Amino acid sequence: MASLSLIPVLNGNPQGVFRPGEIWPDKNGVAINAHGGGILEHQGVYYWFGEHKIEGQLGNLAMVGVHVYSSPDLFNWSDQGIALPVSCDPNSEIAPGCVLERPKVIYNALTKKFVMWFHLELRSAGYTAARAGVAVADSPTGPYHYLGSFRANAGVWPANTPEGDRKALTAEETALVNARKFHGGPFPNFPHALLWRRDFEGGQMARDMTLFVDDDGTAWHVYASEENSTLHFSRLTDDYLRPAGDYVRVFPGEFREAPTIMKREGKYYLFTSGCTGWKPNPLKVAVADSIRGPWIDLGNPCEGSDDEQKTTFSSQPTFILPLKAKGADHYIFMADRWRPDNAIDGRHVWLPLQFRNTHPVIRWHESWNLNAFEN
Ligand code: DGJ
Repeated sequence: MASLSLIPVLNGNPQGVFRPGEIWPDKNGVAINAHGGGILEHQGVYYWFGEHKIEGQLGNLAMVGVHVYSSPDLFNWSDQGIALPVSCDPNSEIAPGCVLERPKVIYNALTKKFVMWFHLELRSAGYTAARAGVAVADSPTGPYHYLGSFRANAGVWPANTPEGDRKALTAEETALVNARKFHGGPFPNFPHALLWRRDFEGGQMARDMTLFVDDDGTAWHVYASEENSTLHFSRLTDDYLRPAGDYVRVFPGEFREAPTIMKREGKYYLFTSGCTGWKPNPLKVAVADSIRGPWIDLGNPCEGSDDEQKTTFSSQPTFILPLKAKGADHYIFMADRWRPDNAIDGRHVWLPLQFRNTHPVIRWHESWNLNAFEN
């Protein structure tokens, strides 16, 4: 791999070291509580947004909100509080006890607003609502104002489906779909060709998600849809607040979730897990010349023991952070080691992501700093 010089963010912080899977204290010495998170880099400061978890299994529900931290160097994080609190109005969609997962924030240069999207499940309804929530703020740390939630792209056919398939389900197809019990994972004869048609009118299911802003400022909402069987790539309006009504289905019937996207040398890379609930499974990466696809599977980018490859180092992806220092070809793979029995004890797994030609590679490091990119 190319030998590259140290990234300037290390200056003045020689002790800076990542310890994947260990408790990571913030500058107050409290474990960073931002799970399923993502990073916004704005004016030289990193902002880490994620799900604030509480102790026990109750912590799998949103009882507090979206936590935000800031850092100049990626190692030392200042607690900036709760960017989007759950609502004290019990009738709110984001009342305590809802599921509010994988929040991501992007900056809109046209409106000068910070826009947060997340996966929202309504209280006491399991994972059936499958909605996208949106909130907006004037400053990166908030407070974020909740705008509402929806299923995506109601009344819009996916752009990459043949004209002949763009039709409502027949009575027979409806009966077939209604007879199935969906649980978020695959089962034999999964009706993956029917679900986007079932959801045409009411909107497409939107669960695990990420946001991606392309070089030209076009933003995409990428989410697990169709009972988790298929990813949708949905272009956002110029203000990033709504779907623009232009989306494609990707890897239909393959059950990929936890999507995260990066771009390098004109190519797009999509990292996903499989769908096994909180349990880890193998990472998959795919590459494309256009964000609309076609996406080509490149297999598992994790190198190491069988177990490390099968479990993505006991974690599930949440975000890829490109380090934008001049000339750098450095990326951090961010993942969650979930602890569903004591959600607050979930761990952050950050690893260096490097390229062997056009293939991404991720290897385990007990501890590492940005010098790791030199090897
Ligand atoms: C896996 C998802 O990636 C998580 O965000 C969460 O939704 C769990 N499933 C719930 O089982």
